[in-house]
Parts: sequence; C-alpha cells; structure tokens
Amino acid sequence: MSELIVEFNNVSVAFDDKTVLQDISFAIHAGEFWGILGPNGSGKTTLLKTLIGLIKPCSGTVRLFGKDPSQPSRERSKIGYVSQQNQTDPNFPLSVLDVVLLGRAGKIGLGRRPKAHDKSAAREALQKVDMEAFAKQRFGDLSGGQKQRVLIARALAVQPQLLLLDEPTSALDVNASESFYDWLDSMRRQLNLTVVMVSHDIGVVSSFITKVACLNKTLVAHGVPDKVFTTDTLSAMYGCDAVLFHHGKIPHMVVAKATHEQNEERDTRD
Ligand SMILES: Nc1ncnc2c1ncn2[C@@H]1O[C@H](COP(=O)(O)OP(=O)(O)OP(=O)(O)O)[C@@H](O)[C@H]1O
Ligand SMILES: [Mg+2]
Repeated sequence: MSELIVEFNNVSVAFDDKTVLQDISFAIHAGEFWGILGPNGSGKTTLLKTLIGLIKPCSGTVRLFGKDPSQPSRERSKIGYVSQQNQTDPNFPLSVLDVVLLGRAGKIGLGRRPKAHDKSAAREALQKVDMEAFAKQRFGDLSGGQKQRVLIARALAVQPQLLLLDEPTSALDVNASESFYDWLDSMRRQLNLTVVMVSHDIGVVSSFITKVACLNKTLVAHGVPDKVFTTDTLSAMYGCDAVLFHHGKIPHMVVAKATHEQNEERDTRD
C-alpha cells in the first residue's frame, strides 16, 4: 500500500452548535485522485479546510502526513490549495508571474521581496501548467480556463505533494471543463501528485478520478467510483430520488424533484 497522506477518524465539525460534518472517516493514499461530490452546503469546502487545518474538528482526529494539520509544521509546504473561486475582478492589476509568486509568500516572508530562486520556482510552476508564455500578461485579461491554470501554478509554486482543488471548473463551460480534467489528469501523473478535487460534474469526473467521496453532512459513501455510483448512494447524497444511467462507461444522473416530505425533512434538519 502506498504512503498514507490524509486520515480522518470520526471527524465532526460544527459552527455555532450546527453540525456541518458528522462522523467522517476515510483515508487518502499517495497517487490517488479523489473527487468530493455533494449538493450545495453539504460540507465539501469545510472538509477541505478541515483537512488542511484551517478549521478544527469538534471531535475526532485529522492527520495530514501523519501530523495534526492545525499545528504549524513543515508538512504545510507539502500542500497546494486552490480555493473555491468567485468571479475574479477583471481589473485585478497583477501580472501572471506576480499571482504565482503570491503562492510563495509563506517561503518569501512577510514584506520581503522575492529572490531569484523564488522567481525561477514561479516560472517552473507556470511551465508545469503550460502558461509560461503568459508570465508578463495581466492576470485579469486571461480566459477562465487560463486563470484556473495560473491559480494551480500558484498552488504548485511550493512544490507540493498534495493538491487540493475546490470546484476548479465552476467558471468553465462543458468543453473547457472536459479538456481541463484531461490536462489535470496528465499533469498529476507527470508530477506524481495526489489530488483531491471538489466537483459537481459527476459524469466527467468519474472518467478521471480513482476514488470518490459522496458527502451530505455525513459521508454517504466512498471508495472506487464503480462501486460508489449507484442510484441508492446518489439518492441518499442529494436527499431526493436520483436515477443513474450509463452512457458507455460514463455515469449520468437525473435528479427528480424532492418530495414535500423530503423538503420538510431537510428544512427541519439541524
Ligand atoms: N465559517 C462558517 N461559519 C458558519 N457556518 C459556516 C461556515 N462555513 C460554512 N458554514 C456552513 O456550513 C455548511 C457547509 O458549507 P460548505 O461551504 O462546506 O458547503 P459546500 O458543500 O462547499 O457548498 P457549495 O457547493 O455551495 O460550495 C453550510 O451550511 C454553510 O453555511
Ligand atoms: Mg464549497
């Protein structure tokens, strides 16, 4: 079995007494490509933030490279994190290279200027995402897909082993999303990265990921996609009737409208 990278043991997270994640246990090993799926508000972003120690669980334990992620440690530099994006301001004044250098802020130190080796690490990261030619261009002028690659370069600028992506294709159309996943998959193989990606694209994602976690406050199911993607699992995850059908090897899902009882049950959930 390859190296254990992340371990959740009976982890629960609450905000102001409201439980958002409940009794989550799973493990991520080196080289895996995880997809985290779940409806809006199901706790996906909270799970990623708990994994990197930005949020502390109210019970249970999280281990990242064998350590408690909420305590400062060297292990932090083994993680690249691309957070969930809102629309980026088109007038964002920084160059592409500046944006990537922001990823090294922790290494450069507060108020210090980047050194030559920081700039070469940033250029190397841009090379990895095929965006080196854009280094001097204004970040705000790039297309959605190009911006997403640059944000990944920013995460790669610390040379991480684990890359976390929170809905990286939310600003992309279907075609751009598919080629983005293609590219991401070949990049992670080349760089030998472990990847955890939050996504809504169940069909597209399932052709690339090696493991999936279906979340709706609890971990409804997790494991290899073939075993996890069943009509029952998806209905439990979305809290309403879901029908799963396959087009070749690719699963597609149709979600039926929630019944009145299901809506009431959801409204009364804590
Ligand atoms: N800092 C916070 N304080 C209070 N409540 C929070 C906080 N962060 C998240 N929540 C709540 O926790 C729940 C899960 O939020 P989270 O952002 O993890 O969902 P998500 O699955 O990422 O949703 P989406 O698909 O919309 O991004 C939501 O009900 C949200 O309102
Ligand atoms: Mg989210």
